[in-house]
Amino acid sequence: MNRLPIIIDTDPGQDDAVALLLAAASPELELLGVTTVAGNVPLSLTTLNARKVLELAGRRDVPVCAGADRPLDVPLVTAEHVHGDTGLNGVDLPEPTLPVDARHAVDFIIQTLRERPAGTVTLCPLGPLTNIALALRRAPDIATRIRRIVLMGGGFFEGGNVTPAAEFNIYVDPQAAHEVFTSGVPITMAPLDVTHEVLTTQKRIDALRALPNRVGPVAAAWMEFFERYDEEKYGQDGGPLHDPCVIAFLLQPGLFTSRDCNVRIETQSELTRGMTVIDWWAVTGLPANAQVLRHADADGFFALLTERLAALP
Ligand code: RIB
Ligand code: CA
Repeated sequence: MNRLPIIIDTDPGQDDAVALLLAAASPELELLGVTTVAGNVPLSLTTLNARKVLELAGRRDVPVCAGADRPLDVPLVTAEHVHGDTGLNGVDLPEPTLPVDARHAVDFIIQTLRERPAGTVTLCPLGPLTNIALALRRAPDIATRIRRIVLMGGGFFEGGNVTPAAEFNIYVDPQAAHEVFTSGVPITMAPLDVTHEVLTTQKRIDALRALPNRVGPVAAAWMEFFERYDEEKYGQDGGPLHDPCVIAFLLQPGLFTSRDCNVRIETQSELTRGMTVIDWWAVTGLPANAQVLRHADADGFFALLTERLAALP
């Protein structure tokens, strides 16, 4: 099997954690490393959480490299009100024995892209794009070496979730997002428009809880904690499972529909900071710079997720 080499850049976060589990359980993917960034919670916690999740998955072979502890040019905004004070509330996992790799996340990304054949490594950002932008600034040569950036972020039809205009990952570091979306690197984005179609309904959570392993019930408990905020906000059965959409796209792209669009990032306006201006109807005449995911086969998504998590310890 030709495995797809990937680096996951993440701010765990319960949905990030489920994405990490899905990647760890999927033999089609070669998980080269996990890089962490400040986002849902501060960097010290996102890094601790990434180590806990990989240990839970039995993947102590995967290096965890800590990255940026703040955005490029604005103060850090975190989301403990959604993810809890630890960022992984819902389950108490043991302290990990998996060490933090000595390399900074940005150095690891640059080094890995330069060592691997050009055009073979996919970057999978699941949080603010600070590490990715810093790597592109420090090593512009990597832009042509990245196979594709497949990220969770942004929104158009759904608007925003942290302001009426902006989704959290882009809002936290708009400048970083602007530099990534203007880098020329092929991009696939999973915005709120698609992630809000994959809801953690009780039936889907029950299927995970019923798995005869440790991971299933843990993932179910994370979802039940994580979804309460969105259930109250949107009045639906379940919350959107954002970040695993990135990994599911890599595994089964046919689960999603998409359109190539021009996407620009608002970085100046206080009112619409972090808005992804997605030219869905091609009214600007500007060239497309991103494949924008729009609809998901939610049942197929959760069937894949449940089947794969069943293979973990
Ligand atoms: O807006 C959803 C995104 O913000 C997800 O990546 C979630 O983990 C948070 O980081
Ligand atoms: Ca995230």
